[in-house]
Amino acid sequence: MPPDTLILRQPDDWHTHLRDDDMLRAVVGHSARQFARAIVMPNLRPPITTIAAAQAYRQRIQAAAGTTAFTPLMTAYLTDDIAADEIARGFEQGVFTACKLYPANATTHSERGVTAIAKIHRVLERMQTLGMPLLIHGEVTDADIDIFDREAVFIERVLSPLLSDFPALKVVLEHITTDDAVQFVSAAAANVAATITPHHLVISRNALFAGGIRPHLYCLPVLKRERHRLSLRRAATSGNPKFFLGTDSAPHARDAKESACGCAGIFNAPMALESYATVFEQESALPRLEGFASEFGPRFYGLQLNPRKVRLRRTPQPVPERIGELVPFHAGQTLGWLFEGVIDA
Ligand code: NCD
Ligand code: ZN
Repeated sequence: MPPDTLILRQPDDWHTHLRDDDMLRAVVGHSARQFARAIVMPNLRPPITTIAAAQAYRQRIQAAAGTTAFTPLMTAYLTDDIAADEIARGFEQGVFTACKLYPANATTHSERGVTAIAKIHRVLERMQTLGMPLLIHGEVTDADIDIFDREAVFIERVLSPLLSDFPALKVVLEHITTDDAVQFVSAAAANVAATITPHHLVISRNALFAGGIRPHLYCLPVLKRERHRLSLRRAATSGNPKFFLGTDSAPHARDAKESACGCAGIFNAPMALESYATVFEQESALPRLEGFASEFGPRFYGLQLNPRKVRLRRTPQPVPERIGELVPFHAGQTLGWLFEGVIDA
């Protein structure tokens, strides 16, 4: 029998959306409760493209979190015309931890994203020299490519050539959803890693249509078929340091989800660790959760491991239908673990 208590080095979330204003105030506490640090996505409107905007956003996050125990790590949103000097200065000043590449129009608030990799070659060169990570939303946007194939086609048409041109660039393929991505990242050099969300470990595309359309399970990259989910579970629980935690928690107001054209994004921050722990337990891999959640990410980014610990208890944990105005991932279900908090031991 596995132990009823799990004590882990405090995890970090290597991919999250904290939004701004009222939504920021509503959601940031959920991330700050479980995670010591979080890579904060820059897809606001307007996007975070300057050092000044990132500093101001970081301050708003810290004020909304109301604790110095939570460190937001800021990212720059790459556009076709972003200046390499601004990126390099932001990294050297400790404002930008990484850059985010959204192919233009791939997902929520990505319309200012990059239209062709050639446009950002100078930026990528500088990032490679600096050792600054590039975080990639890995989907092509061509309307004639089936939406379920967009990640695999991106790997072939965009990521492989990009890594040939910049073989030493640190790359995180974000929120991977396919066995193709697992295979690619596993075979790549040590400077290429991937994050995996709770939802892509827990559900396949069938869940999107179970008994009717389920807008709260719609996200991008969209859920894939079962064999991909099983491959992601093997990767996450394998102990391979190329795969680490990134929730992609992406809250949207309920009416924006429950709509004739619903937004992509799953709000999973409130139960993130419980969700991951449940998966690792199902895979008989609880001893490997700490590496995935708390060690591989900081090592890849070249950051210190967190000094503090958190405690989870194995006990049925019902997830509410609503958290404030938002519908969380696992709403109405019961998870196997309860997050009890940060401990000093
Ligand atoms: C994200 C959002 O809402 O900002 N949505 C999502 O489905 N994951 C954007 C993104 O990460 O693709
Ligand atoms: Zn995201």
